[in-house]
Amino acid sequence: MSENTSAQEKNEKKIILSGIQPTGVFTLGNYLGAVRNWRVIQEQYNCYYFIADLHSLTIHIDPQKRREQTRQAFALLLACGIDTEKSLVFVQSHNKCHAEMGWIMDCCSQFGELSRMTQFKDKSAKHPENINAGLFTYPSLMAGDILLYQADYVPVGADQTQHLEFTRDVATRFNHTYGETFKLPEGYYPKAGARIMSLQDPTSKMSKSDTNPKATISILDDENVIIKKFKSAVTDSEAEVCYREGKDGINNLMTIYSAVTGKSMDAITAEFAGKGYGDFKLAVGEAVAEELRPVRENFQRIMNDRAYLEEEMRKGAERATYIANKTLTKVKKRVGLLLEKR
Ligand code: TRP
Repeated sequence: MSENTSAQEKNEKKIILSGIQPTGVFTLGNYLGAVRNWRVIQEQYNCYYFIADLHSLTIHIDPQKRREQTRQAFALLLACGIDTEKSLVFVQSHNKCHAEMGWIMDCCSQFGELSRMTQFKDKSAKHPENINAGLFTYPSLMAGDILLYQADYVPVGADQTQHLEFTRDVATRFNHTYGETFKLPEGYYPKAGARIMSLQDPTSKMSKSDTNPKATISILDDENVIIKKFKSAVTDSEAEVCYREGKDGINNLMTIYSAVTGKSMDAITAEFAGKGYGDFKLAVGEAVAEELRPVRENFQRIMNDRAYLEEEMRKGAERATYIANKTLTKVKKRVGLLLEKR
């Protein structure tokens, strides 16, 4: 294959784009359910990941904490194996196109459709003291994020599907009014991806906002903490490691162990036949700690090398701006904004 063909092939890769709010460290649930797969898909797709710091302004966070969490979120992506030679990683506010596009998208969004967004309704009910306009137009900013890069796929959790639908509506309308401009993005739903439940209440999803620290594993927890949390995981009184309805706690631990070791449920049952839950929990804890060890070590290394981190952010911002600016220029022309002559 000539060099030319392979370069061409590279350009034909589909684009996957996702934004991550800088609001705390991923859990084992986020990791096994999604983040771990991002490392794999960067071989098949052009992956664009950004830290959605502009979106995070809709909630009140101490400024110093916001800065720190933005750095951490960026470092975490790299620590999880996102390779900046293959994927684009950047901080949203470092690419000014997002803010500019956001305003144009605001003007293409209807009050009625924004009012129907369940996330807006939920968040404003939860924080009646801060129902800011940004919270209301959040989906318009998000639509801009996606459309700027002509993304093919957006990996979205259930809480974001409505926003993706909204993006497609806005894009369709824009294309209709001003002529074909945007690619319509689709949801990306990977086959692999385990659904991990709370260690204390295995009927609800593991969540980083859980108030009980024993319920969640952070991907930066150290080995001892991880083992301790698994030891105190809620199970049942049967003393039988086997995947069966009604055994939510054990099912969850088996799902985790299987996701980390690649062993089947039957193999796990055979491995722990005749042994107690104590042995099983210890094995799960050790396997998880081992799986997360490189993430933890990479993260520390990156956070300790501020110059490296800043250089990666700078390179990401430069490339993101270059790509997004193409769409933004087209959009400005389409809506009749005069382009400044340079
Ligand atoms: N709204 C997303 C969340 O809270 C974050 C986000 C912002 C995003 N812009 C995006 C996700 C664009 C996907 C695509 O999780």
